[in-house]
Amino acid sequence: MTIRKAVMPVAGFGTRFLPVTRAVPKNLLPVFDRPSVHLCVEEAVAAGIEDIIFIVSEGQEEPIARYFRPQPALEEALASRNNSAALEQMREISGMANVVCVTQTEQRGLGHAVLMAREMVGDESFAVFLPDDVIWADSPTIGEMIEVHRKTGGNVVGLEEVSDEDVPSKGIVAIERMSDTTSRIVGMVEKPALEDAPSNLAIVGRYVLGTEIFDTIENTPAGALDEIQLTDAIARHIESPGVYGYHFGGEHQDVGNPLGALKASVKAALDREEVAEELKSWLSCIVRY
Ligand code: UTP
Repeated sequence: MTIRKAVMPVAGFGTRFLPVTRAVPKNLLPVFDRPSVHLCVEEAVAAGIEDIIFIVSEGQEEPIARYFRPQPALEEALASRNNSAALEQMREISGMANVVCVTQTEQRGLGHAVLMAREMVGDESFAVFLPDDVIWADSPTIGEMIEVHRKTGGNVVGLEEVSDEDVPSKGIVAIERMSDTTSRIVGMVEKPALEDAPSNLAIVGRYVLGTEIFDTIENTPAGALDEIQLTDAIARHIESPGVYGYHFGGEHQDVGNPLGALKASVKAALDREEVAEELKSWLSCIVRY
């Protein structure tokens, strides 16, 4: 089964990143020098996905779409300065994928945001990325999850162990382990109190879903935070067609909060030869104080 489409909801208010998110969509903020939406589209494309559907709030469509659109004046300027490396990079960005934006006019929750993509998704299984979650792994995490979907026919979510402190702000699951990387999910709860949580395993922003989820979301009442929760809708498919967890490897940062975004920028810069040495030496000086 080929997955060709990915939904990327970015319409939330971004309250953890105020005040900058008053004016700038948080998923356009830099992870070193590129936004998390770029990193997620790259991951999607590496897994064979061709079409990206962003769910945006009013006012966000233009900056998000502009990032992925060809920019002739900029390209001309780079060409006239003989900056062929930057020119090539700009052309790669606008050629990465087919990008469309759908506006969510009312922020009624992640489940509701995914429902906005129904028409664009059509009748094929699809991927969902939350661009707050940036993952550096040897092979694209979503590609491994698509493989689990292909083998099981079920919905698949990314899983990571979190601290007790983080449990009440996450979707938490109960599992039966199938292999080192894959589990069958037997229970799911969004934002539980620590004492009610079935484990410390949290859903991270990667999903592969069948289209039956759309009818289920429509029939899912508002849950935690009075929002329509994607976790609640997925939980209704534990029996059929089943829900599976993929325990991804590699490094993950939540760039939806300032500290996570800073760590992600440092990680991304340390991976870049042209700045890594200088950054390391500056960091080793600054941490002494
Ligand atoms: P979050 O719970 O992280 O909310 O949403 P948020 O508004 O982005 O950030 P904070 O917590 O206020 O700082 C999870 C994902 O769901 C999207 C968000 O953009 C984020 O990618 N979302 C959430 C929507 O697209 N629409 C919604 O109505 C709610």
